[in-house]
Amino acid sequence: MKVELNQLADGSYHIFAPAKINLSLRILRKRDDGFHELETVMAPLAFGDRLKISPADSYQLECSDPTVPTGEDNLVTMAVRAFQQKTGAPCNWRIQLEKQTPHGAGLGGGSSDAASAVLALNQLENTQLSEGEMAELVGQFGSDTSFFIYRSHALCRGRGEQVEPVAAGQPVAVLLLKPNFPVSTPDAYKRWQGSRELDGVPYGAQSFGGYQLVNDLERPVFEKHLFLAQVKLWLLEQDEVGAAMMSGSGSTMLAFLHDGADGEALAKRACEQLDPYMWSLVTEVVV
Ligand code: C5P
Repeated sequence: MKVELNQLADGSYHIFAPAKINLSLRILRKRDDGFHELETVMAPLAFGDRLKISPADSYQLECSDPTVPTGEDNLVTMAVRAFQQKTGAPCNWRIQLEKQTPHGAGLGGGSSDAASAVLALNQLENTQLSEGEMAELVGQFGSDTSFFIYRSHALCRGRGEQVEPVAAGQPVAVLLLKPNFPVSTPDAYKRWQGSRELDGVPYGAQSFGGYQLVNDLERPVFEKHLFLAQVKLWLLEQDEVGAAMMSGSGSTMLAFLHDGADGEALAKRACEQLDPYMWSLVTEVVV
């Protein structure tokens, strides 16, 4: 796939790194290697980060968010190192990450950045790795990194790295609400076995636009972060909302909106009534 790399007048290139949401996330079992066997449908958003890539004397990484570490343990750098090793390409580029996607949000921000860097360098270095080769390369660095090579509505299996693009339905409006605390993904999975449902909170699949929305990580995450269960209950009571669930391992909560609903008004009310420091975004997703 040829990704869109826009060249600017100053000679730099821009690539968009979309965020994702999980439309469904089913945990089939815990595996012997400690990971969890999944069946998850993920959808890319029109919202995300941007990578600016310019020629340099050596590889360098910078980030607009000073709280993001830019050393060798950054996912982008880890993916670039693996790409260098596999292809022998010099990779003398300065990558500037312009972060929009919050972290610890269940939106795949860091994974998307890493996959986007590899997609971009594969073109800039003319190395011609196939999608499958790139997906395998970045799959070492996370369970949803491979999805971001394909960037399309996909059913993902295994620990998430087996990506099968599937046909998507129609676009619907969705409100993303992220309280101002992150959720740790390893912790969410660790708590899954043995976790219990909270009384009065619906966890079952919700039908919306012909799609079945469900997230098996809500059970362990709500047990630890009661506030997220409260957000779900509150959203389900609002007239604009057809279905509400958590994205990935949280902490972003999703509200799927009825046709013509005013998502901005809903976001404002949510901040007033639930938490004034919540991050919010109204966007479209294809379900
Ligand atoms: O997505 P990522 O691979 O970064 O996930 C972080 C952690 O979440 C893993 O190291 C693992 O502990 C847990 N995980 C899991 N099963 C999955 C995906 C993630 O147990 N399918």
